[in-house]
Amino acid sequence: MTGTGLVDRFRSARRKDDVAILEGFHAIKHAIRFGAHLREVVSTDPDHVRRLAELLAPDVWSVLKDQVKLIDDAAFSKLTDPRPPTRIIAIADRPAVGVDELLRRPGSGPVVLLEDPRHLNNVGAAIRVSAAAGAEAVVTTGDANPWHPAAIRGAAGLHYALPVGRLSSPQSIWRPVLALDPEGQPLDPGLIPPGAVLAFGSERRGLTDALLARAETRIALPMTAGVSSLNLATSVAAVLYAIRFRSSESRERPVVALDGFVSRLP
Ligand SMILES: C[S@@+](CC[C@H](N)C(=O)[O-])C[C@H]1O[C@@H](n2cnc3c(N)ncnc32)[C@H](O)[C@@H]1O
Repeated sequence: MTGTGLVDRFRSARRKDDVAILEGFHAIKHAIRFGAHLREVVSTDPDHVRRLAELLAPDVWSVLKDQVKLIDDAAFSKLTDPRPPTRIIAIADRPAVGVDELLRRPGSGPVVLLEDPRHLNNVGAAIRVSAAAGAEAVVTTGDANPWHPAAIRGAAGLHYALPVGRLSSPQSIWRPVLALDPEGQPLDPGLIPPGAVLAFGSERRGLTDALLARAETRIALPMTAGVSSLNLATSVAAVLYAIRFRSSESRERPVVALDGFVSRLP
C-alpha cells in the first residue's frame, strides 16, 4: 500500500475532531480494549505487530489481524513523525463526549480538571493514570488539545477508557471543586466527596485566581521542606491513588504477600 489517498486521509484526520490518530501499538491496544472503532490501520511490518501482540496483548490480535494493512516505509514516514518504534498507526472514531453536560450532573468518581495544561505529555500521563486509578473523566481548559496524537501516545490510548474533553467554562461545573494547590490544607482523601472535581493548575503558574475563587477548598500534597511543587501528572497520580487506597481500605483490610506467604492483616 503506497497511495497518496492514504497520506491525505491521515493528514486530514489530524485536523478533524470526530477521529483520533493512534500512533504505536500500545495506543491501539488500549483503544481496541475500550471499544474504539478503527477506520484504518497500517504498518510497515504486520508480522512484527503480530509477534508483539502475541507477547503483550494476545486479546487484541483477533481484531487487528483483519484490519492491519502493509504499507511501505516511504509512505509510513509521511503519516507520522516521529515514527512509532512499533511500526503501526491507525485512525479511529473519537467518541462524542459532552463534558460540560457531565459536570452538571452529580457523579460517582473524581473528575480531573487540568486548567490550561502546556505539555501534551503531561496531559497524556494524567489521562493514563486517571483511567488506571478509576477517575470518572478528564477535562481540560485552554488551548492544548487533549486528543492531540502526542497526548494519546502519552496516555497509551486510554482516552477510550473514560470521557476526555475540553470544558467550555469552569462556570458550568455544578459539582464541588477542590483546588490542588501546594499552599492548601494537607490532603485527607477520606474527606473528598464522591464526584468532586479535582482542579490542577498549569505547569508554570499553577491555578488561576478565578479557579481558586471557584473552589470550595484548597488541598495540598505534603512535600519535604525545600520542594516547591510536584510535576502536574505526578500530582494527579498521587491524589487519585490516595483516594483509591482510602476507598479500598474502607471496604477491606489489605492483603500482604511475602515470598509466597499471603495473609490478611489482623
Ligand atoms: C508544576 S505545578 C505548578 C507549580 C506552580 N508554580 C504553583 O505554585 O502552583 C502544577 C500543578 O500541580 C499541582 N501540584 C503540584 N504540587 C502540588 C502539591 N504539593 N500539592 C497540591 N497540588 C500540587 C497543582 O495543581 C499545580 O498547579
